[in-house]
Amino acid sequence: MKFGHFDDEAREYVIETPRTPLPWINYLGCNDFFGLFSNTAGGYDFYKDAKLMRLTRYRYNNVPYDTGGRYYYIKDGDTVWNPGWQPVQTELDFYECRHGMGYSVITGKKNGLSASLLAFVPLNDTCEVNSITLNNESSDTKTIDLFSFIEFCLWNAEDDCTNFQRNFSTGEVEVIGSRIYHKTEYRERRNHYAVYACNRDIDGFDTDRASFTGFYNGLHNPEVVFNGESKNTEAHGWSPIGSHHLKLSLAPGEETKVVFVLAYCENPVEKKFEAPNVINKEPANSILSKFMTDEQVDAAFNELKDYWNSLLSVYNLESSSAKLNRCVNIWNQYQCMVTFNMSRSASYFESGMGRGMGFRDSSQDLLGFVHLIPARARERILDIANTQFPDGSAYHQYQPLTKTGNLGVGSGFNDDPMWLIAGTAAYIRETGDFTILDEMCDFDNKKELAAPLMEHLRRSFNYIVTHKGPHDLPLIGRADWNDCLNLNCFSETPGESFQTTGPSEGPVAESVFIAGLFVKYGKEYADLCKHIGLDDEAAKCLEEVAKMEKAIEKDGWDGEWFIRAYDANSNPVGSHECEEGKIFIEPQGMCIMGGVGIENGMATKALESVEKHLDSQYGIMLNQPAYTKYYLNLGEISSYPPGYKENAGIFCHNNPWIACAETEVGHGDRAFEVYKKTNPIFLEDIGEIHRTEPYVYCQMVAGKDAPTFGEGKNSWLTGTAAWTFTTVSQYILGIKPDLDGLRVDPCVPSDVDSYRITRKFRGKTYNIIVQNPNHVQKGVSEMTVDGTPVSGNLIDPELGGDSVEVTVVMG
Ligand code: BGC
Repeated sequence: MKFGHFDDEAREYVIETPRTPLPWINYLGCNDFFGLFSNTAGGYDFYKDAKLMRLTRYRYNNVPYDTGGRYYYIKDGDTVWNPGWQPVQTELDFYECRHGMGYSVITGKKNGLSASLLAFVPLNDTCEVNSITLNNESSDTKTIDLFSFIEFCLWNAEDDCTNFQRNFSTGEVEVIGSRIYHKTEYRERRNHYAVYACNRDIDGFDTDRASFTGFYNGLHNPEVVFNGESKNTEAHGWSPIGSHHLKLSLAPGEETKVVFVLAYCENPVEKKFEAPNVINKEPANSILSKFMTDEQVDAAFNELKDYWNSLLSVYNLESSSAKLNRCVNIWNQYQCMVTFNMSRSASYFESGMGRGMGFRDSSQDLLGFVHLIPARARERILDIANTQFPDGSAYHQYQPLTKTGNLGVGSGFNDDPMWLIAGTAAYIRETGDFTILDEMCDFDNKKELAAPLMEHLRRSFNYIVTHKGPHDLPLIGRADWNDCLNLNCFSETPGESFQTTGPSEGPVAESVFIAGLFVKYGKEYADLCKHIGLDDEAAKCLEEVAKMEKAIEKDGWDGEWFIRAYDANSNPVGSHECEEGKIFIEPQGMCIMGGVGIENGMATKALESVEKHLDSQYGIMLNQPAYTKYYLNLGEISSYPPGYKENAGIFCHNNPWIACAETEVGHGDRAFEVYKKTNPIFLEDIGEIHRTEPYVYCQMVAGKDAPTFGEGKNSWLTGTAAWTFTTVSQYILGIKPDLDGLRVDPCVPSDVDSYRITRKFRGKTYNIIVQNPNHVQKGVSEMTVDGTPVSGNLIDPELGGDSVEVTVVMG
């Protein structure tokens, strides 16, 4: 069942009912200020850090679901309604929510009145703009009351929902004309405040939540709105809100617009006040002055649209599949931007209070983002490197505001180091900018320990070389990519963290996955060495890589697939010898992507085993058989009920690794089949089963052992975005940035006739036509650049002018 449709022309998803199976959200904001925005206008805003700088309050796991947002109430006679249906839930005569690139538009109609809410965060300002268009479509004059509503968060989101003994006494506001200032904690150590403003004169306001709703009422039946009169309250402690009241009259056919802006403002410490305890309004005046007229709002909105037009022109596909084009050209790239910005911090599944930026996560997010804005990718790589420890290991997470590692989780996730190489290599392949390797980066955020980025990569590489177990395979530490495979944990105490319990440096537990990762990115590290003239180092690295390949083939091979790991007693995990969890997806994908077993047939065999044992209608499961009991030696993975999360769920993040691996052995048909199975755009028709947004990937789909097989969870913030974009753009469609130029190496389904790709790369635009007259799955038989035949499949960056025509014939 579908709950909406794609409007590809507008690059929007159009939701046709507010009753989606889960809230279907969008993200507003590209740089420092962000808003989560659901299809019923739910969600919240923050500045840079969803935990420490939360502007508006949101209650996760609320009843009813998804209440709390920027709400506009309309009282038209006796009828009270919201354009986005929530929270009053009055049945609408018409409802539509369009989620676009960095903006959303919700339109509701009731009794001849149309109300359309456009919400976006302007490109370079720290605010959310809400522009409401009201249109009287009836033949009578309408006299209505419009109320705005947001609820302020007292900045630190975690403290805000736990520390009530303090928080109920600290709330403070100022109201001047149509501007409501939220200044809790400003009198002491904060030098920032929020302002919620309206561009018109108002007829009333409220800032005290209980007064607005009535003490035992909710947001669905606020007293002020139902009575049609604001109380002009000023909050003292308790829960400060912002609500404006406008009385409006519209003649038949008349249209009017009202603009509301929620802004984050900051003052230098010495200029905090204009009078004792009166905040300095200068920054508010300056930002609000930019959005006071409809023309200004239109201009800012157009600027945002232009920005996205330009970003999405870097990689553009024209193929015969509308679904594929839509995914490649619009939504997958859009999700890559969102994961780059958010890492795993704030979504409808990530509370914004827990994980900040992940070392591994953010490094991988770069893979799908780097072509969009390389300069921001560069900055991110340096931020990540600053949190690395001198021995090459890394803080697993860091806070975006402070950019320092989180002590709570610490380090010991032994795949982390290699991902820094992955992200950096992707950046250099995209840009050819080797100077990044000379940038000085701290170790452990300590300036005195700073060293060039190249030294950081070297230590990443060496960390794996110097941390091996009895089978000469890498030690796993607390976990590898699979955060829930905790082989050194042995936790028997409820509530204990699986990730931080037990010795981080387990003496023997090993990971075949990290071995594969090392082979893949060890080769890329050696390539970097070669390119900067470190031939000896490159040769030594390749020797280490070769040793690792041997170790995998010797002790990482189970006969029909790659083993997953060795536990703390040196017993295999993910082997036919195991009672449950005999085969895992991760090492099959990563080892083959590293090139292990391609020559000797292990790769093809392993992929056959994946298809035989792990595949399902909705994608490839993480492991099989699912664990049916808790295994002390395995950790969190076996804590999940069968079919969910890492215990035999379909992890969308590593399905693309199998698709990539299939391309390594030339299986274009199968690679595309794997690609399609977890692709939300191809699942739009089964929205009632899949449940999460049909325009973005979710982290996990319930596996066949789960009672809800096919149900998606954790949409938006997942490494799936970057990996699926890498898979489809580079491994399937075959446009691969290489250190020496752009390589064209497609591996496609045999029924593909041809496709075109426009790719902007290092200052030039390549118009590439790929033809497949003989219906092969892989191989390039001819290539011409600006009409001249070239040998091989690498386009020399020196060839051609600003716009280069490339024809590729497969065969
Ligand atoms: C984490 C990833 C991890 C994955 C698998 C995600 O929630 O963000 O870092 O690789 O789960 O455990």
